Amino acid sequence: MGAVLEESRKVARRSLLRYLAASPILAGTLLSQAPRTRAEAEEGDVIAAVNDAIDVFDFHATARQKLPPAHYGYMATGTLDDSTLRANRTGFDKWQLRLRRLIDAKQIDTSVELLGQRQPSPIFLDPVGNQEAFHPEGVKAAARAARATDTLQILSMVTNTSVEEVTALRGAPVWFQLYPTENWDVTTMIVQRVERAGCPVLVLTIDSRGSKRDTLRRLSRQDTRDCSVCHDRSVPNNALMRKPLFEGVDLASLGQLVPLDMTWNFVHRLKDSTSMKLILKGVVTREDAELAVEHGVDGIVVSNHGGRSDPSGRGTIESLPEVAAGVQGRIPVLLDSGIRRGTDVFKALALGADAVGIGRPYVWGLASFGQEGVEAVIRLLKAEFELVMRQAATTSLRQITRDYVVRAG
Ligand code: FNR
Repeated sequence: MGAVLEESRKVARRSLLRYLAASPILAGTLLSQAPRTRAEAEEGDVIAAVNDAIDVFDFHATARQKLPPAHYGYMATGTLDDSTLRANRTGFDKWQLRLRRLIDAKQIDTSVELLGQRQPSPIFLDPVGNQEAFHPEGVKAAARAARATDTLQILSMVTNTSVEEVTALRGAPVWFQLYPTENWDVTTMIVQRVERAGCPVLVLTIDSRGSKRDTLRRLSRQDTRDCSVCHDRSVPNNALMRKPLFEGVDLASLGQLVPLDMTWNFVHRLKDSTSMKLILKGVVTREDAELAVEHGVDGIVVSNHGGRSDPSGRGTIESLPEVAAGVQGRIPVLLDSGIRRGTDVFKALALGADAVGIGRPYVWGLASFGQEGVEAVIRLLKAEFELVMRQAATTSLRQITRDYVVRAG
């Protein structure tokens, strides 16, 4: 009941703020004089036009207003009590920046080499399934935005648009995220198809061994629409229904999307079956990072799925130093979960990441304003990150090292 009450309180608070904002006298006194707490700031403000956004949180507030409760809940939820979700944000507060002065930072280079490709920015779009739940154009709008901003995009296996069409809209190869499933024939069929479509990198998600999404369930109760019109719960793996990669596939034959008995043997088998580079998404410990290198994996993503499956209560920025220590620079380390600010990007790079992914922030942009919203979120984050780079006087990503962060307190 706690999460529902909290949500009702938030709704009441937002209504009050909107009422106050509409009153010139009150808006001029109460609102402008009260600096917002961290939690309030991260609530964002509902905006009417894409250019009104001050930070990415304004897209969150706008998305919350526009989306039906169940779809908002699907995006916002963590697992169990959402403690990992929260830790993904509070973890960044445990690190502060050490900024250097009086160094020429007029020209900065934000590009990074990742698995043989030079990317203009270390910020990439994470795989997010079912994007049509947030906007009719869904992942197509995200692909167009990625093209307009020249941003690396990872396509989810749970995509409503084919890998071929997304690649064409992106105007460049996308990376492809795979859930392994228990059906090797289907897995091979998908792997071969994405390889033919030109994907250079396969991203195997290993952290989704079931979840209990309480916030989603609570918010779904507030949704008065008939969900069965779109979601046929009688079909196993119903999230894959009407997905182009699964046309003609018996969804019951897939079993668990991330089988509970999956081991490093599967990683080998997968690697041997393709010439694409293979990276693992969901590594959070030094031991697994060392094993990933030993087993010949080409890269890892330090991820807890945005707190959606992993009940550790630990933010990825907290896991990053031990993972980076395990890898010792031998393969690229990417990180996602909780990135919302240019300072977050900088801290992740300083602690050993080569690049960072965003999930929910671009979904907020998508739900608010379609392609334009996704573009605005990417541009805002890139601009904030460049600002921090200039403040730190680091003119290339290579210069962003551990020397630029210090543990708070
Ligand atoms: C995801 N994520 C995800 N990951 C994945 O490997 N395959 C998928 O299909 C999805 N689908 C998905 C849907 C939605 C609605 C969300 C919010 C997330 C996880 C995603 O790739 C990424 O790890 C997190 O979103 C990163 O955390 P933030 O940026 O959302 O805090």
